[in-house]
Amino acid sequence: MDSRQKVVKNIGVLTSGGDAPGMNAAIRAVVRAGSYYGFRIFGIRRGFHGFLKGEIAELNNRDVSEKLQRGGTFLQTARSESFNTEEGVRKAVQMAKTFELDAVIVIGGDGSFRGARDLSRLGLPVIGIPGTIDNDIQCSGYTIGYDTAMNTAMEAIDKLRDTASSHERCSIIEVMGRHAGYIALNVAISCGAEVVLIPEIPFNIDKDLIKPLFEAKNRGKKHYIVIVAEGVGDTMKLAELIQERTGIDSRATILGHLQRGGSPSTRDRQMASYMAIHAIECLRDGRLNRIVAYKGGKVLDLDIEEALTATKTITREELDRAMILSL
Ligand code: F6P
Repeated sequence: MDSRQKVVKNIGVLTSGGDAPGMNAAIRAVVRAGSYYGFRIFGIRRGFHGFLKGEIAELNNRDVSEKLQRGGTFLQTARSESFNTEEGVRKAVQMAKTFELDAVIVIGGDGSFRGARDLSRLGLPVIGIPGTIDNDIQCSGYTIGYDTAMNTAMEAIDKLRDTASSHERCSIIEVMGRHAGYIALNVAISCGAEVVLIPEIPFNIDKDLIKPLFEAKNRGKKHYIVIVAEGVGDTMKLAELIQERTGIDSRATILGHLQRGGSPSTRDRQMASYMAIHAIECLRDGRLNRIVAYKGGKVLDLDIEEALTATKTITREELDRAMILSL
């Protein structure tokens, strides 16, 4: 056994923020890779919320059987307000001492990573694994759950197109993404949408919505697909506006939380597994306070303080380029 391994023996694992398909695959891989390298793994229930309440129990390899293919997170998750306070963070560090946890792996989004960073500043070593359907973790090109959520949305939109086409209607579909348009943009490409609206890029109703729909009609299209990211605004009102301004019969559908559920795709199972193995290997090698990220086709790890200063966004060029096939 490597001498550095003695520093960390007991590892806690929790899921936090919105759940994402593939989180179970990540927990399973943490437990099994952890066991392979000689660590003891403890599941922390209900995210940071359960951490503060001491909802912590050891997980063995059999506890994670039959979890790989399941959506959601069997450890459950929460959005914890009290964790945002200094007192909450101190309490969690104390709880880690009580349960003899030497490090904690946090599977979640940027908000959860800020919580993890606060723990690390008080001396509890952490590793973050990116998990959110929105793909909006700034330091990583991929987040667990994104592929499954896009496939779920794509299948629903293919169905909506059938009926829109039969009735020569416009189907306005809201996909998830309060602050990020990654799902909207790439689902729009996958579904051949006429228009996509995302929170990152300001849009003009006439130029970016109404005119492209008239142009599509004049080109002889029989249906019109408009994808709207959740963060853009009131999708129902947009549908009314489209009908009023274009005369095209329009219907709105909000896909909502169904995008968060379901059995993870092969991509999400693989990414979750590789990222979790990497997280355990960071702890094995004494690389503490890291965020596991996907960059340039590789799973790697970044210093948590630096990772939280990273930025990524969708540019106007990317958006325009995605729309050139909607002719
Ligand atoms: O987890 C990300 C996300 O699904 C966003 O796309 C969405 O805006 C938000 O979570 C919804 O959160 P909640 O489940 O708390 O309603």
